[in-house]
Amino acid sequence: MSVSFPVFVTAYAKINFTLDVLGKRDDGYHRLASVMQTIALCDTIAFREQREKRDVTCSCDMAELESVENLATRAAILIRDLREDSAPGIALDVHKEIPTQAGLGGGSSDAACVLNALNAQWKLNLPPKRLEALGAELGSDVPFFIRGGTALIEGRGEIVTPLPDAEPLWLILVKPTVDVPTPGVFRRLTPREYSNGDDTAAVVQAIRRREPLPERHLTNALEAGVLRDYPQVEEARNALVAAGAPVVRMSGSGSTLYAPFRSLNAAAAALRELRIDDGRVWLTRTVTATEAQQGQRAFLHDDFEVLAK
Ligand code: C5P
Repeated sequence: MSVSFPVFVTAYAKINFTLDVLGKRDDGYHRLASVMQTIALCDTIAFREQREKRDVTCSCDMAELESVENLATRAAILIRDLREDSAPGIALDVHKEIPTQAGLGGGSSDAACVLNALNAQWKLNLPPKRLEALGAELGSDVPFFIRGGTALIEGRGEIVTPLPDAEPLWLILVKPTVDVPTPGVFRRLTPREYSNGDDTAAVVQAIRRREPLPERHLTNALEAGVLRDYPQVEEARNALVAAGAPVVRMSGSGSTLYAPFRSLNAAAAALRELRIDDGRVWLTRTVTATEAQQGQRAFLHDDFEVLAK
């Protein structure tokens, strides 16, 4: 009997606790050192196998993401083509909660989630390193999301070293309405904004020692340029500071800003004071590697196995 029940998996967003740009490579990419962290803001993906078909189809509640260029679709095709037997078709429904062009890795997380889910569904037993290499073909941020949690990212993003989970934090996120395309942010970066990676090294050390994150080392080399070029991001930053957020950082290449809090009371108090005219706001939290991986593999469910017989 062909099984056509949809199965839901969860693709979590990320923030960057640090983002050091160490220099530029000959291929135009930049050498990075960054500590990334999965967070509870998430997309939901439903899978259905279509035994009567071979193709991969994708519907998405953000219409502009329905093209074959969608990273989730490309991930499904990439892993399907590794199968030697005839793979069934796959229908993906992607419900977007993670805003696009936001520095939160939404498209990359969807892609990693598809790789993990189909690896499990088809019992391909590809190890995480192999899945990370596949993910790197799709985008620099994809390898991180194969394992999620807290990790050190190097190279152009594809070298992932898992770290112990960082301390749990509440987060206020603000996504100004303006979208900030990543290539332009890197193009406008000047060598003055390069660093030697000391901030990332300090944060990695604290995490390995199970210490609180050292706030003065939470830095992002891309932030000054984005604040300069996009007044809406600067306004959102000022609003978070005025609301009492002790630390405000940009995630990735923006435009999302995050403010971390150790207590929910403090986060909620800042949220009450926050005045944002332009953009979206979330109260969310960090997500451990175990939780991120469980979300991606949710459909290896006893009931599903029974139904499939
Ligand atoms: O790899 P991905 O397609 O996600 O990267 C998007 C763009 O960001 C690249 O085309 C490049 O312009 C820039 N980038 C970079 N250095 C990196 C990662 C991305 O310059 N390490």
